Amino acid sequence: MKKYELETVVRVSERYGSGLLHLVLERTDGKDMPEMAPGQFVEVAVDRAKVLLNRPISIFNRTDKALELLVSPIGTATKALCEYVTGDRLRIIGPLGHGFSTQFAAGTRVLLMGGGVGIAPLYYQLRTLLSAGVKAEVVYGNRTAQDAEICALFSGLAPLHVCTDDGTAGFHGLVTQHPATEGAFDFVQVCGPKPMMKACARLAAAKGVPAEVSLENQMACGLGACLCCVEDSKDGNVCVCKNGPVFNTSLLKWQ
Ligand SMILES: Cc1cc2nc3c(=O)[nH]c(=O)nc-3n(C[C@H](O)[C@H](O)[C@H](O)COP(=O)(O)OP(=O)(O)OC[C@H]3O[C@@H](n4cnc5c(N)ncnc54)[C@H](O)[C@@H]3O)c2cc1C
Ligand code: FES
Repeated sequence: MKKYELETVVRVSERYGSGLLHLVLERTDGKDMPEMAPGQFVEVAVDRAKVLLNRPISIFNRTDKALELLVSPIGTATKALCEYVTGDRLRIIGPLGHGFSTQFAAGTRVLLMGGGVGIAPLYYQLRTLLSAGVKAEVVYGNRTAQDAEICALFSGLAPLHVCTDDGTAGFHGLVTQHPATEGAFDFVQVCGPKPMMKACARLAAAKGVPAEVSLENQMACGLGACLCCVEDSKDGNVCVCKNGPVFNTSLLKWQ
């Protein structure tokens, strides 16, 4: 897929309990957003943070006129990005990487599992799957009810099962312990903290179904040039930015 460098204007859509920011970006030239696949990401130039490197952020949603992002204020650049207000300009490069599988037959049962800000690439993936007649369900975990507020965006789309570590919303426990995971599925797709993704991969393996995970290794160039994001795989070292970020778990050594 062709890569673009785009100047965009920001609209702050919503701020969620734990500090997550939902941003809607439109091109300053008024043209349509380029095609982007769910699970791909963009490199965001957070000029205001005065950091040298762009930061990788997943494509939360893409419409003809807009690209939507979900940002968690973790460090220098993401905290600065969360201070952006409607009307600010932002330069992005993308789409980058390879996303989730979407070519399933209608009626295929796909379980999407998200943890924390790892919910970001699953929204566009869910919309894409549903529009193809795939039966998708989401299990989402976060620490508290406040942290899980982002789930509101998914309401009415598909069955959504919320889990919290402290039991303040939904199921009290881990996503892999939720009763919904005991159902029959044909495919599992995951994004979240690495220990959670490993547990989800084990769950899928125990069910005998394939799984894909979206890795969030720290990146520098985002283009496959610096080798800063490598992951050990059965095919040797792979660059998460170029060969991923989505990988079938059968390729990874950590399962
Ligand atoms: C493919 C991909 C997609 C991503 N999608 C999103 C998204 O949709 N929304 C979002 O909010 N974030 C996303 N991230 C994570 C985001 O890129 C990092 O949080 C960001 O780069 C951190 O930059 P910073 O300047 O804010 O933090 P820094 O000041 O650079 O770092 C702050 C602290 O966070 C740690 N850290 C930084 N990046 C990571 C990481 N990737 N994993 C674990 N620890 C890290 C650092 O070691 C440091 O301790 C994604 C990452 C990747 C690789
Ligand atoms: S970030 Fe440079 S090779 Fe992946």
